[in-house]
Amino acid sequence: MEVFVLPTAQQVALRAARVVVDGVRETLASGRSEPVIGLATGSSPLGLYAVLSGAVSAGEVSFERARGFALDEYVGLPAGHAESYRQVLLREVCGPLGLPADRLHVPDGSLSSEEALAAGAADYERRIAEAGGVDVQILGIGANGHLGFNEPGSALTSRTRVKRLSERTRADNARFFDSRDAVPTHCVTQGLGTVLDARRLVLVASGPGKAAAVAAAVEGPLSASCPASVLQWHADAVVVLDEAAGTGLANRDYYDASAAGL
Ligand code: F6R
Repeated sequence: MEVFVLPTAQQVALRAARVVVDGVRETLASGRSEPVIGLATGSSPLGLYAVLSGAVSAGEVSFERARGFALDEYVGLPAGHAESYRQVLLREVCGPLGLPADRLHVPDGSLSSEEALAAGAADYERRIAEAGGVDVQILGIGANGHLGFNEPGSALTSRTRVKRLSERTRADNARFFDSRDAVPTHCVTQGLGTVLDARRLVLVASGPGKAAAVAAAVEGPLSASCPASVLQWHADAVVVLDEAAGTGLANRDYYDASAAGL
């Protein structure tokens, strides 16, 4: 795992964006003409998406032939709801990055029975596999250590499925809704095993509210109690933090020395 702790939000966004752009270029160089990007929603990757949008405008990278796969989606929001992750990604990623809307895949949270949601989740796994797997997966982390919406206790080998959201997560995400009660109680999320299948992971976190979760994920035991600790199991994971999110790290000196290079 590579860990970067950087002083400004812009440096965090630039460093994380570099991982994505390099991943796209390496995918193209390997002969795969349709790079697959795993897309997180929430506040953490917004700066990264803004940098990618700038890189697209500057002609440094293109997402026209890419495919995007969302990490997760709420269950039960009406079609077209502004806070459904499909709408969020259409707004914040497809438009600014020039990723065609018909190349965006999002788990279907509109299905009304448990059986239909489970079948939709299995179909989502099939679609990721058919696309050749995820080349670069963009991630945030919950204040409780969740990854995607894999809440504490999630199996480390889990696949896409329906999960209940923790009350902590619903409270944290209430800022996107009119009230906490309006936040859905369930979601469909890629599993931790699904995330681990991506060829490269890049996790972005900022602010003091993420410090404990980041420390547990990066330096704690590999444990379902901190789902983001599965990053330790991945051979190519990059963690990009601001100073506040990195305050709980015991090995900070080592990460800084490694980041300085040979
Ligand atoms: C979003 C997701 C979540 C968020 C996490 C952090 O698709 O899967 O894991 O990354 O809840 O959210 P923010 O960035 O809003 O703090």
